Amino acid sequence: MRIGLLTSGGDAPGMNAAIRSIVRTALYRGSEAIGVRGGYSGLFERDFVDLDIPSVGDIIHRGGTILGTSRSEYFTTDEGRDVAFRVLDGYVDALIVIGGDGSMRGALELADRGLKVITIPGTIDNDIGYQEESIGFFTAVSTVTEAIGKIRDTSSAHNRANVIEVMGRNCGDLALYAGVAGGAESIIIPEVPMDLDKVVAKVCHGRDRGKRHHIILVTEGRDAQSITETIEERTGVETRLTTLGYLQRGGDPDVRDRINATLLGKEAVERLLQGEGQGGLALGIKGGLPLAMDLREALNVEKEFRRDLYDAMEMISF
Ligand code: F6P
Repeated sequence: MRIGLLTSGGDAPGMNAAIRSIVRTALYRGSEAIGVRGGYSGLFERDFVDLDIPSVGDIIHRGGTILGTSRSEYFTTDEGRDVAFRVLDGYVDALIVIGGDGSMRGALELADRGLKVITIPGTIDNDIGYQEESIGFFTAVSTVTEAIGKIRDTSSAHNRANVIEVMGRNCGDLALYAGVAGGAESIIIPEVPMDLDKVVAKVCHGRDRGKRHHIILVTEGRDAQSITETIEERTGVETRLTTLGYLQRGGDPDVRDRINATLLGKEAVERLLQGEGQGGLALGIKGGLPLAMDLREALNVEKEFRRDLYDAMEMISF
């Protein structure tokens, strides 16, 4: 079998581990692995590369993606998807897509045109509802948690409040998990209506009992600048904003992301070889184990909010 693979959308630590696993499983099973460089864009340029065993050596521990990635505008059009399908049809027998929600929707378009497709969730946002641990998420949580620790040091030194803006698009998981792990005082995320009075009250309470640091995590898109100004105005505590930005997407994948990526890469190839993938199949991790679901169905599953984590954080962080 000739198996095509690509990474698409925002890169996530662990994508390389997934590529390695797909390629090595395919070759072990006597199949071929054809990498598409630059995500869906690479299809239009026919930017293909035959992947052999050494080509995926020394990458399991590296962030980014050796295949490169993109957000292809053209691929969002019907015409682009028709062209992409025609490029792949007959050239490969199936395609494995590693990426987030948008990449999975693109993969479904190819599946609807008749290509066998399997998707592996790779995004630091963890915004994919049918499963629990997208590749890259836990590494990004560690990165943000480490940043919280560093910012808290300087916050304490200066007796300041610090607002930290984190990525996540429309999903608060990155802020929530890192906020819990890093002991943030407040978390402002899309899943919970913003209550600035509560945030201000927490800072004042901390200030009045002599606390010298206050960490407020905010998911991007919530106007962190004006939140920062409001906190300073209403508490009298000097308040600074740090936008963590793209550093959250980089870095060596952690153990969990490497293991999940390895498991899912192997699973994707094995399932293709067993004849699956027609109509589109989504893989993911739930309860620590691989799970497979019809791709269209998977995309309709709403993301569950970890209210238990949020409530725990609210109760114990002062
Ligand atoms: O989806 C991952 C992500 O890092 C989001 O958290 C963020 O909103 C977005 O990608 C940034 O995208 P770009 O790389 O196109 O600026």
